[in-house]
Amino acid sequence: FPFKDIKLWKTIALCIVTSLISYYYCIKLIKDLKGYMIDAKMTGKDLNKTGTIESKPANAEAMGIITCIIFLMNSIIMVSLLDFDKDKLLLFMTGLLCISLMVILGFIDDVVALKWKYKLIFPLIASFALILVYDGKTSVIMPIPTRFIFGEVLELGIFYKIYFVMLTIFCTNSINIHAGVNGLESSQSIVICVFTIVHNIIEISRKETQSIYENHIFSLILMIPFLFTSLALLKYNNFPSKIFVGDTYTSFAGIVFAVCGILGHFSKTLLLFFIPQIINFLLSLPQLFKFIHCPRHRMPKFNKKTYKMECVDNHFTLINATLRVFGPMNEEQVNISQTLFQIACCLFAFFIRYGLAQFFF
Ligand code: UD1
Ligand code: MG
Repeated sequence: FPFKDIKLWKTIALCIVTSLISYYYCIKLIKDLKGYMIDAKMTGKDLNKTGTIESKPANAEAMGIITCIIFLMNSIIMVSLLDFDKDKLLLFMTGLLCISLMVILGFIDDVVALKWKYKLIFPLIASFALILVYDGKTSVIMPIPTRFIFGEVLELGIFYKIYFVMLTIFCTNSINIHAGVNGLESSQSIVICVFTIVHNIIEISRKETQSIYENHIFSLILMIPFLFTSLALLKYNNFPSKIFVGDTYTSFAGIVFAVCGILGHFSKTLLLFFIPQIINFLLSLPQLFKFIHCPRHRMPKFNKKTYKMECVDNHFTLINATLRVFGPMNEEQVNISQTLFQIACCLFAFFIRYGLAQFFF
């Protein structure tokens, strides 16, 4: 590890200190403000609980907005204390712009339940800004067995940028559709974040080139505050939920990852951390494209007698597939099973990135 880089240590220390303060304020504000959301009728019924729909607890919705705002403020304070050069500052500010745009979309979605087309248009436009400032290559190194066809390096040009567009749209929507049990939206994001941080630290300590080094510091600066503010949210969103994170948080989490992956130049590794979301997305395709009816909620069936959640045959989601294989579970167990699967997939991603990759590249 580059122990002698005092500037790096100062950056990490600043990041952790501001993030701890942010954690404290997130906890405080979620506690103090959730009543205001309930007064403003920004609520959601906790569907997987006993009782009639009228008697179920109404939780404050869209509470991820507090996480988002604190995260953005944290980032601005942090960047004003760090001495970024003009180029890095441009990247960082563009990242924050995209994050802000997606937070606005998410919050509007929580207020008025937007149509699908808006959930595609917003990240599409956000990705334009990311592509505009992206300063990396647009070529890929080919696996050894395919080099006799494509050569060692394949220039993808415009296709690499189209891939960025698709990645941004995917990240900002895929967490949202892998949801429906208490805590899952925040816990999956936290696992991805922790693995991204580990990846960043590994790459920083390897310091293959100065630009790889700086790119991973860039990502770390966004990931650390994201981790702390999300942990504060999870504290309230975990089973039994006292608040819901809303689409505000899911689109926020997705764009933060997209910004780190694209501007940090590790989008392919990032995508490996999204294996559960990719599986859930592929399973969901028939319903997303309306070949099969897609109801408002695709949650498993809650059995009021056993308190367990049961597989619903016509909901094509990863949660339902899990219940089909392992049988009924209570809500907390469903969240734990999905989180463990997320961790397993991220470990597998590391195996591919640091184990298998050296044999193919
Ligand atoms: C997405 C999913 C939907 C899933 C929903 C649950 C798709 C296409 N859409 O919709 O299938 O049912 O997320 O988040 O896959 N809720 C709970 N318990 C929870 C979380 C949410 O009861 O742990 C309920 C609450 O009533 C809450 C509502 O779901 O108000 C939030 O749903 P929202 O995030 O708006 O749903 P979508 O993102 O549109
Ligand atoms: Mg949602």
